[in-house]
Amino acid sequence: MLDSRQVTASAPGKTILFGEHSVVYGKPAIAAAVDKRAYVTLKKREDNLTHVSVGDLGVSGFLDLKNRTIKLVTGSPFQRGILEYIMRSLLKAETEGSMDVDVRLDIPIGAGLGSSAAITVATIMAAASFNQIKLTNETISNLAHQVELDVQGAASPIDTTLSTYGGVIYLSKNPQKLTKLQINNELPIVIGYTSTRGNTGELVEGVRQKREARPEIINPILDSMEAVANGARQALLNGDHKTIGLLMNINQGLLDALGVNTEDLSKMVFTARDNGAMGSKLTGAGGGGSMIAYCPGKVEEVVSSINQFENAFQINVAHEGVRLE
Ligand code: PMV
Repeated sequence: MLDSRQVTASAPGKTILFGEHSVVYGKPAIAAAVDKRAYVTLKKREDNLTHVSVGDLGVSGFLDLKNRTIKLVTGSPFQRGILEYIMRSLLKAETEGSMDVDVRLDIPIGAGLGSSAAITVATIMAAASFNQIKLTNETISNLAHQVELDVQGAASPIDTTLSTYGGVIYLSKNPQKLTKLQINNELPIVIGYTSTRGNTGELVEGVRQKREARPEIINPILDSMEAVANGARQALLNGDHKTIGLLMNINQGLLDALGVNTEDLSKMVFTARDNGAMGSKLTGAGGGGSMIAYCPGKVEEVVSSINQFENAFQINVAHEGVRLE
C-alpha cells in the first residue's frame, strides 16, 4: 500500500548585516535570519521518478535519484540549479524511491536573501523526518553546506547556518566559531533590491585579485571591516542605534573601496539615509543585488522612498530556524 504520509519543513532566508567579503578572509560577519521562509512538502509517489514543483518560480521537473539525473519540465535552464539543490538534499537525507516535492517560497527571489540555502535546509529536514532519521541542527547545517559546495563549487556557511539556526549570528569562516547574539529588541531593517543581481563568484574573485595586487592597501581595509563587525556586535547587543547606523555607513565605504558597490546600490543607500535611515549599506556580494538600511522609527518612509524607483520591504528577524510544520 502506498505510504500516505506527508511532511512539511520550513526554513528562513537571511541577510548579512556586516562582514560580507571580509568573511572570505577569516574575518567575522554578522547575519540575521529573516521572517521570509521556504516551505518544502514531501509525499511518496507510486512511479519511480521524483517530481519537484516550485510553483512560485514556475519551475518543475523530474529527478531520478538512483541515476542522479534531472529532467527540467518547466522553467529556464538557468533555473535548473534549484532542482540540483533539491536532489542533493534528498540524497543527503538518504531518500530512496520516489517522492512528490512541493516547494513554496515567501522569500523574494533575487533579493540576496539566501533562498537556495533555505530550500536546501528545509528539504534536508523534511526528507530526514520522512525517512525517520533524527538529525541535529549541527548535522543539518553541515549537510546543507556540503550541498551548496557541491552545487556552487564555493560557498561560505553563512546562508545555511542562518537558515538552520535562525536568529542573529556572529560567525567567522570557521563555522565552529558561531555565536548566537541575544538581541531582544526588534531590528528595524529595510531591504532594497535592484533588478540586476551580481555574480558572487566573480565579485569574490575581483576582491581576491585586488588583494593580491595591492595587499598593503586591501589588507588594512579587511582589518577595518573586522573592527566594524566587532563594534557592531557590541552595538547590537546594547541596542545602540546610532553606532549600528554609523558602522553600517563605514562598512558601505569600505565595500565601495573593494569595488563591489554600484551606482544603483549607492542610489538606494543614499535615498535611505535621506529619508531617515540611521545607516545603510549594500548587503551580500554587491555588484547589483541588495542593500539594507537600519531605520528606527522611519521604516515606512524608507520603504516608500526606495519603492519609487526600486523594490523595498521591511524584514524582521526570524528567531526560529528550520522547523517541521
Ligand atoms: O550575495 P550573497 O548573499 O550570496 O553573499 C555573498 C557573501 C560573500 O561574503 C561576498 C561571499 C561569501 O561566500 O561569504
